[in-house]
Amino acid sequence: GKGAAMVTAVAYRLADQSRQIAQTLAEFRLSKAQLLEVKKRMKIEIERGLKKDTHGTATVKMLPTFVRSCPDGSENGDFLALDLGGTNFRVLLVKIRSGKKRTVEMHNKIYAIPIEIMQGTGEELFDHIVYCISDFLDYMGMKNARLPLGFTFSFPCQQTSLDAGRLVTWTKGFKATDCEGEDVVELLREGIKRKEEFDLDVVAIVNDTVGTMMTCAYEEPSCEIGLIAGTGSNACYMEEVRNIETVEGDEGRMCVNMEWGAFGDNGCLDDIRTQYDRAVDENSLNEGKQRYEKMCSGMYLGEIVRNILIDLTKRGFLFRGRVSETLKTRGIFETKFLSQIESDRLALLQVRAILQQLGLNSTCDDSIIVKEVCGTVSRRAAQICGAGMAAVVDKIRENRGLDHLDVTVGVDGTLYKLHPHFSRIMQQSVKELAPKCDVTFLLSEDGSGKGAALITAVGCRQRELERQ
Ligand code: GLC
Repeated sequence: GKGAAMVTAVAYRLADQSRQIAQTLAEFRLSKAQLLEVKKRMKIEIERGLKKDTHGTATVKMLPTFVRSCPDGSENGDFLALDLGGTNFRVLLVKIRSGKKRTVEMHNKIYAIPIEIMQGTGEELFDHIVYCISDFLDYMGMKNARLPLGFTFSFPCQQTSLDAGRLVTWTKGFKATDCEGEDVVELLREGIKRKEEFDLDVVAIVNDTVGTMMTCAYEEPSCEIGLIAGTGSNACYMEEVRNIETVEGDEGRMCVNMEWGAFGDNGCLDDIRTQYDRAVDENSLNEGKQRYEKMCSGMYLGEIVRNILIDLTKRGFLFRGRVSETLKTRGIFETKFLSQIESDRLALLQVRAILQQLGLNSTCDDSIIVKEVCGTVSRRAAQICGAGMAAVVDKIRENRGLDHLDVTVGVDGTLYKLHPHFSRIMQQSVKELAPKCDVTFLLSEDGSGKGAALITAVGCRQRELERQ
């Protein structure tokens, strides 16, 4: 009768709906062949970044860091470190002690950087940074010490020495004026001068990937790669100086800050980017830039999810077809929410509670779909990050003419640390895509702070040697 026909119609509509949702998400499911292709293209861009003729136009910039050796345990002294460019801005005092029992003691304070300052003028930004240092020195009672300082500045910098680096371009949430093209160490020194309250000896500018690698290498000498899977995504590794055509000399190795977030900016990933990736890019502070990073880092994953949810809602598959103001709000799905939603320990009712906290009223069916969307987006992120890493480890293996390479990667970042599946899937992906390498991932707790201090210590020692 009529009732049966209606039931059939509803059943048909539901089946059609889940087919359409599956179709939407299918674009995010990459095959092994596609991932191998991502790895291959990363390899090509790595070479372009290293070669003199192509470096200028290369998207993956392969920036020399002037870090040539890892810490050996003889580092000693008190250092200040700044950490700008991750989730928080921090000022740290790091006390490194050498000898039989090596120790590293850290004191730090977290400061907020309001969005008006992140996106205001360069002078305001550096005045704020100097204000925070001043507050920290007061707090520690160390205003008169003139300590050596390492500045972890997690943005692309064209370095000409350990303590000089021009900002190539802002990335992530920063967009302060009058900084791009400038030497960041000079900007900091000028800020310190303007304040006329204290003096510091800026010894090193450090990318967070490099700090992470160094921290890990301090405990584990086989660590020659640093990886950040956090707000942004990036890696560094020890490259043969002879291969870095932008640096004089042929001897030894130097750490290269890859800036792999910009991978794809020449269009080489366009075949795997979806309409949602393009939407996220168009709504970002740096359209067309950091395309790979926008597919695999914490600052953007939630945005991809949000764009998919908006589309599914408009098509009537979610939230009763109503696109709420909340759903229209940029940045609502932070890494911490995605991580909670995807936790296996969480019942669907709890997923609904999380969505409720965000102001999204969901049905049970909604919560199933939301969870699936999150899982699909973060899986792709972990897999392509793994594909990038596979290219790096194979590059190191080939550099050394080895059939097999054992190597350790120091890792940090909120996505890696907080997300319930990201690290496992990423590691799995590396294993599948670089079968000739055995890659161990080591969480490098507080790499940006400790690493900057270690590099500063090594830098001070180098300087002493040069003076003699
Ligand atoms: C962005 C920055 C890069 C940094 C990464 C992780 O990609 O450009 O320098 O290492 O974020 O914080």
